Amino acid sequence: MDPAEKLKFWPSPLLAIETSCDETSIAILQGREILANVVASQIEMHQKWGGVVPEAAARAHVESIIPVYREALQIAGVSEITAVAVTNRPGLVGALSVGLSAAKAIAYAKKIPLIGVHHLEGHLMSPLGDPDLDLPFPHISLIVSGGHTELVRVNEPGDSEILGETRDDAAGEAFDKGARLLGLGYPGGRAIQQAAEAGDPTRYNLPRSMMSSPREFSFSGLKTAMLRLVQTESANISVPDAAASLQAAIVDVLVAKAIQACEDTGLKTLTLVGGVSANKPLRETLHQKAHQQGITLIVPPLHLSTDNAAMIGLAGSIRLSRGERDQFDLDVNPNADLPTKTLQ
Ligand code: KG4
Ligand code: ZN
Repeated sequence: MDPAEKLKFWPSPLLAIETSCDETSIAILQGREILANVVASQIEMHQKWGGVVPEAAARAHVESIIPVYREALQIAGVSEITAVAVTNRPGLVGALSVGLSAAKAIAYAKKIPLIGVHHLEGHLMSPLGDPDLDLPFPHISLIVSGGHTELVRVNEPGDSEILGETRDDAAGEAFDKGARLLGLGYPGGRAIQQAAEAGDPTRYNLPRSMMSSPREFSFSGLKTAMLRLVQTESANISVPDAAASLQAAIVDVLVAKAIQACEDTGLKTLTLVGGVSANKPLRETLHQKAHQQGITLIVPPLHLSTDNAAMIGLAGSIRLSRGERDQFDLDVNPNADLPTKTLQ
């Protein structure tokens, strides 16, 4: 895409809905501006079980979606919605269905366009939530969330190529499972980061898997190593040191492979997106290494890192402004690949 070519956004109020996992979120955008971005988290409910229970998640979305919709409208202060963007893939089927049904009902009642958005395309476009950012295409993106770890070449909005992904667990899962083993609760990423602040990252030697394969990731060995560490150290374990060692092992692998992908492709812009991009040591280490290599690192603001509807609105807005539309037979898809080509 010609860098001089300006991205176009849907110019009038757009409603965006995200319910793919455990956050019920509704945003209202006007052009690139985010007027409201309400996120109702189900974390407290899922904490009881130590993870997301799909049926409970769907039920909670049903309960929250109308209050969240009303709150978003009130914050945005707009009287009319002119289009609806909704996450329809991938994610938990029941959770996605709640958001999609609401989106269809609103689009049908108001006779306005509807567009389904891939959840990861939302993460990829999340840096655009900073209105002053000039996001160049093509660029490399490292998507790190609870369900995904992918290195992507983003040719233009809606056209991405996966360069490599995880063979097993996602980076977020490695944080979450490690936190559970250390008794730090759910979700684990932030808890590990906090515990690690007082810890020594060199205390326990944990594996950096698949370093010889530049693009692929594997975090299941790290989980097994953590389990063994917890069993052998038992009551003597230092939770801060174990958290810091786990975090360092994840950060080392992510940073090395993201920088390598930029070097191999010659692309000098890297984005870090998805919930794990909220991790401070990951942001800082990647910034430092990118800077050393002459790579510009772009990270979305914290409130756009974890799941939210504004990022879905940004991705949907670009598609709608190109004339793309979905019909009312649009369905949910729990396991969809990232879109590679723009429908024109
Ligand atoms: O993108 P996201 O909100 O949801 C998915 O699409 O999965 O990512 C959630 C993941 C969880 O695994 C959570 O533990 C992780 O992001 N996470 C973090 C941090 N904040 C959230 N991981 C490491 N450090 C953090 N500060
Ligand atoms: Zn996500």
